[in-house]
Amino acid sequence: MYKIVSKRVLNPTVTMMDIYAPLVAKNAEAGQFIILRVDKDGERIPLTVAGYDRTAGTVKIIFQIVGGTTMLLNAKKEGEFIEDFVGPLGCAAKTDGIKKVCIVGGGVGCAIALPVAQKFHELGCEVHSIIGFRNKDLLILEEEFKACSDKLTVMTDDGSYGRQGVVTMPLKEAIEAGENYDEVITIGPLIMMKFVVATTKPYGVPTTVSMNPIMIDGTGMCGGCRLTVGGKTKFACVDGPDFDGFEVDFDEAMARSNAYAEFEQRAREKNCNLLKGAN
Ligand SMILES: Cc1cc2nc3c(=O)[nH]c(=O)nc-3n(C[C@H](O)[C@H](O)[C@H](O)COP(=O)(O)OP(=O)(O)OC[C@H]3O[C@@H](n4cnc5c(N)ncnc54)[C@H](O)[C@@H]3O)c2cc1C
Ligand code: FES
Repeated sequence: MYKIVSKRVLNPTVTMMDIYAPLVAKNAEAGQFIILRVDKDGERIPLTVAGYDRTAGTVKIIFQIVGGTTMLLNAKKEGEFIEDFVGPLGCAAKTDGIKKVCIVGGGVGCAIALPVAQKFHELGCEVHSIIGFRNKDLLILEEEFKACSDKLTVMTDDGSYGRQGVVTMPLKEAIEAGENYDEVITIGPLIMMKFVVATTKPYGVPTTVSMNPIMIDGTGMCGGCRLTVGGKTKFACVDGPDFDGFEVDFDEAMARSNAYAEFEQRAREKNCNLLKGAN
């Protein structure tokens, strides 16, 4: 059992928790993820390592409440326990040879992007961050990004905070203004990452995307997380989650991500009713 050491609500649909998991904290690196189960009959869900404290033995997770399991997790209180917390899984973010990087995060993808931005900052790289949200109420982690970015641009779809528009606007402007990024790293909804790649590709700016397909075992055995990258089948859990954005078949990934929509809807309704019953 793994103790929830702290819990903080970041916005009405996003929660941050520190979980006491010293072995995971000891080995985790930016870009990796864990798989947890809230209770013994629960489903396994992957969440990115959003930070760690090796001394305190804690691992930070930031999750959006989107369905059955994230609802159950969010119902847990500080001091309570979750059943399993397995990791670190996947490959750490690659940092070799990168001196200037642009991190592009969208929505809760910013939680996954933050430890990557922090890692580059710690290594002394120049970090430009562009973070986008639908509106001001959904904004998360602005102060944390400020602290690790040489330049931060906040975008909202409706203009209620920062600049109005999508993240690709300032990215294109920066590239055209001559910012020579060694790498653009983008993390967020599939459609956003697809458009980030469409923005950088004509300029030949190397672009890494963080893929988040459905995962089951997280160890390369079930094939649930397969993607086509450069015409070859890859498993996001062991070969990724980061891939060369120019090589990813986004249309296939988007079609596969909807494959379980009906089951997910049923689980959401079941857990919603369970939680209502508990209150
Ligand atoms: C490597 C990786 C890292 C991730 N990191 C984060 C993170 O840091 N924060 C965050 O909020 N979300 C993250 N996700 C997505 C997160 O796993 C899903 O939001 C979660 O599984 C939803 O479960 P649910 O039962 O609440 O929702 P459901 O209603 O079951 O599903 C809602 C949506 O979540 C996704 N999803 C559902 N089950 C899985 C699964 N087993 N594996 C992958 N995706 C699933 C699907 O896109 C689905 O449409 C990550 C996914 C992957 C693959
Ligand atoms: S989650 Fe099973 S192979 Fe990747």
